[in-house]
Amino acid sequence: MPSYCGKGLRETPYGLVRMNESQQRDEETEVSYSCDDDTPCEQTLCETKRRRLLGAVAAGGALSLAGCTTILAEPQESQVRGRDAQFDVNYLREGTTLRLRGSETILEAGLEEGFELNYACKAGYCGQCLAKADSDASEAVHMAINDVGNLTDEAVSDGYFLPCTSQPRANFSFQSNLDQGEELAEYEEVDEEEEDVEEEDVTSFVTYIHDDEPTVIEFEGGVDALIDEDRNMLVAGEEEDLDIDYACRVGSCGQCMAKVSGDGSELVEMTANDYDPLDEEAVEEGWVLPCTGFPTDSFSMRTNVHDEFEDRE
Ligand code: FES
Ligand code: FES
Repeated sequence: MPSYCGKGLRETPYGLVRMNESQQRDEETEVSYSCDDDTPCEQTLCETKRRRLLGAVAAGGALSLAGCTTILAEPQESQVRGRDAQFDVNYLREGTTLRLRGSETILEAGLEEGFELNYACKAGYCGQCLAKADSDASEAVHMAINDVGNLTDEAVSDGYFLPCTSQPRANFSFQSNLDQGEELAEYEEVDEEEEDVEEEDVTSFVTYIHDDEPTVIEFEGGVDALIDEDRNMLVAGEEEDLDIDYACRVGSCGQCMAKVSGDGSELVEMTANDYDPLDEEAVEEGWVLPCTGFPTDSFSMRTNVHDEFEDRE
């Protein structure tokens, strides 16, 4: 599986942040990273932390990503050339070839051209943007994040990839807007059952204090399973008919702000946090975003406190 480290992400006091295009150009000399588990990034995807990056590429968000730091190192000449390189990418369905830089994602470049490309999460886990290259996709693109169950190494070598998290590394043609159910049916994810069994017993209870009324909601299966189901704390509250405020639902606007009874960085896994005022210190005080938050323990949580957050000292 390809690596995400060092591909448009940089470390800030608030976690890993995706750089915009101009920031990436400015930081062309800082392109080589390694993980703190001593595993070379170019070979391994830090599998245990991978899901915690969901939403980062799409939302440009800061992450709570304990244990997977990046270390800047001197650039290798070949890497700098790679970022500067340009490739001809033929969007077959759209009948257009675009010249893309190695740092551009294939989805964004197409959307900027006005192509009607399917997508939902823009973060490599919904599979809505599934596409197929006319060659081995592991050679045609660098796919920073792939959390689609059936998009296995075999499927990738058959040409399938996710344009939302993929940057070109060769000239190639591809078909967009594929139906992942049909296209990936024959590729079975191998270890899913094993993972589910391990996490089966993990259950958290979150007491939502909503309009001063407590409602206890059960979260079964552990945080990875919840992320897979996309059952975040906003969704779970809505299932119980709690009228929780929201706007973006991707961790950018802060409208869904809630406050938990303890250190938010220990009680909640946020897959994306792009709301600037919600920094590390605020999260430790208990402020969290239910729309991208998944409980890692049992706790109580006051909802609809965005105004209170803004008015705090
Ligand atoms: S838009 Fe969700 S995986 Fe690409
Ligand atoms: S709804 Fe926008 S941050 Fe949660």
